[in-house]
Amino acid sequence: MKKYRDIAGDGGSNIVGQVEAQQARLLARLQDVRAIVAVVSGKGGVGKSSVTANLAGAFALRGARVGVLDADLNGPTMAKMLGVRGRTLVVGAGGVEPPVSALGIRVMSMDLLLADDATPLTWDAPSQAEAHTWRGTMEANALREFLADTGWGALDVLLIDLPPGTDRLATIAGLVPGLSGTVLVTIPSDVSRLVVRKSITVAQQTGAPVLGLVENMAGMFPGPGGEALAREAGVPFLGRVPFDPALAAAADRGEPYVAVAPDAAAARALSDIATLLGDTLTRVARARS
Ligand SMILES: Nc1ncnc2c1ncn2[C@@H]1O[C@H](COP(=O)(O)OP(=O)(O)O)[C@@H](O)[C@H]1O
Ligand SMILES: [Mg+2]
Repeated sequence: MKKYRDIAGDGGSNIVGQVEAQQARLLARLQDVRAIVAVVSGKGGVGKSSVTANLAGAFALRGARVGVLDADLNGPTMAKMLGVRGRTLVVGAGGVEPPVSALGIRVMSMDLLLADDATPLTWDAPSQAEAHTWRGTMEANALREFLADTGWGALDVLLIDLPPGTDRLATIAGLVPGLSGTVLVTIPSDVSRLVVRKSITVAQQTGAPVLGLVENMAGMFPGPGGEALAREAGVPFLGRVPFDPALAAAADRGEPYVAVAPDAAAARALSDIATLLGDTLTRVARARS
């Protein structure tokens, strides 16, 4: 796989041409992907990645062809949560082949490109100040390359796990013109409500439908719930996932909770959310065609 600096900091070669070619390849690669959903939250640590992994698991358990793109370049967790960490990437005829999880989920993550646990992602630039200035551009380039180089094949749904921060959603929406919509995740705290309310505004501005809001870690915090926030913001409420330490333990073992403890309340909630989301995606697709 090419180094990202080949695109990001090549000192005056044909960057625009390369980006256009990549964007065209990206569209071609995503041609057989029926729905693309970005999972977002302005806030970190609310469980975006856990929700993404379990929605992917729930869809896969129902026989859907599922892909997950870990768009969190600095704190990638999807390879770990889906049990494909340490797999070697293979370049095939159709691009870089994403490792396939035990449930059949195809996973692409920066984690699969980094040498070891201690190695962080760093951007190559003449100075750290410049690296800082260019970070947004370099991230967008890296994500474009990820999407353009991965041989996703035919998928029913591709879930994109975004890093915290709302600006990244605009980046993804710009890269993926066919984004089916966004799912937002919050926890019942005033701080989360405040941040996620802003994220909903950003999500609404992308032009892709807001598919709904998930309240995670319910019962853990005494604050205002997701349902009231969803009502206030005028977006669908998808459901409430209780706090359950066994869910976190399963994620650490690389197993979606919905697969290993399907009868647990948190797993049932996630499975119900997947059902609602699936119905919503079908409606969105029908409205578009
Ligand atoms: N419903 C839940 N119950 C218990 N632990 C959870 C739950 N949701 C997430 N966690 C744990 O909280 C931590 C943060 O979750 P994560 O999905 O990584 O959040 P984010 O992607 O939003 O930063 C992880 O250790 C995860 O296992
Ligand atoms: Mg995460």
